Amino acid sequence: MRVLSGIQPSGALHIGNYFGAIRQYIDLQRGNEAFYFVADYHALTSVRDAARLRGFVFDVMVDLLALGLDPKVATLFVQSDVPETTELAWLLSSVTPMGWLEKCVSYKDKVQQGLPAEHGLFAYPVLQAADILLYDADVVPVGQDQKQHLEVTRDIAERFNHTYGETFRLPRPHILDAVAVVPGVDGRKMSKSYDNTIEIFDDPKTILKKCKKIVTDSTPVEAPKDPDADNLFRLFQLFAPADEAAEVAGRYRAGGIGYGEVKTRLAGHISGRFAGPRDRRAELVANPGRVLEIRRAAAERARKAARVVLDRARAACGVG
Ligand code: TRP
Repeated sequence: MRVLSGIQPSGALHIGNYFGAIRQYIDLQRGNEAFYFVADYHALTSVRDAARLRGFVFDVMVDLLALGLDPKVATLFVQSDVPETTELAWLLSSVTPMGWLEKCVSYKDKVQQGLPAEHGLFAYPVLQAADILLYDADVVPVGQDQKQHLEVTRDIAERFNHTYGETFRLPRPHILDAVAVVPGVDGRKMSKSYDNTIEIFDDPKTILKKCKKIVTDSTPVEAPKDPDADNLFRLFQLFAPADEAAEVAGRYRAGGIGYGEVKTRLAGHISGRFAGPRDRRAELVANPGRVLEIRRAAAERARKAARVVLDRARAACGVG
């Protein structure tokens, strides 16, 4: 199956991103033909500084590579390295009713959050449809928040096919069930917009500092506690081996465990889990030429696949 997904470059990845999506992307590269891209055209709707955008794109590339995305198996490319995307977006735009975009909640949300009501933001789902249809994707793994965009993609594909004849493959959404809701240091869902994140590539000292800040209740050390009601324990469980998590859960229930100890051990596990990726990342950052070469080779592969579909679409609607 051809699997495709896009990741917006918007700064350092946190452990919520890891359990919510990245880990699944990496798993899906085996046994599938995987295309993953850094969505820099989409990022133009929010990042307005060229150097910053380039930096973010580079960061996402090295983050994913360091975490185990294998450029020999998966095609990890940058969206704007395939300018065919924007042409297809126009062809799709021409058959997209305004009403379909008007009902998209992400546009309304973002405008409410204070982003200017610009056309690019409004047309964001059409560009996303182009991303997906351009590669004849079978399956698109995304978080729950992208479900509506995938419905619009399918609607647009069907309308184009209906108007001009069979042109696009209809993609199937694969909604990633949150392996677990990852709580942030304040107990709410981990999210950059809440400023409660622990970054995957933080150094061990910073990880420890952030773990110390995890909010817990004020039950005294000796009192019994319910591990499942504690967001510190929920984080601990994501990282600790099963037997160690069971041991700690037992001590919660019996009483006598202090949160400070759990925080320190959690920090050790997080640092340990990402030690390998941290080293690989440092290596890649020291060799930007290698990253560039991976990017170039992936763009070539992606562009070749894209050209076939774009030509099909151009022929179908009578341009070129
Ligand atoms: N909109 C997606 C997000 O914010 C990113 C994205 C862009 C994407 N194009 C895509 C995801 C195509 C899947 C397929 O997460």
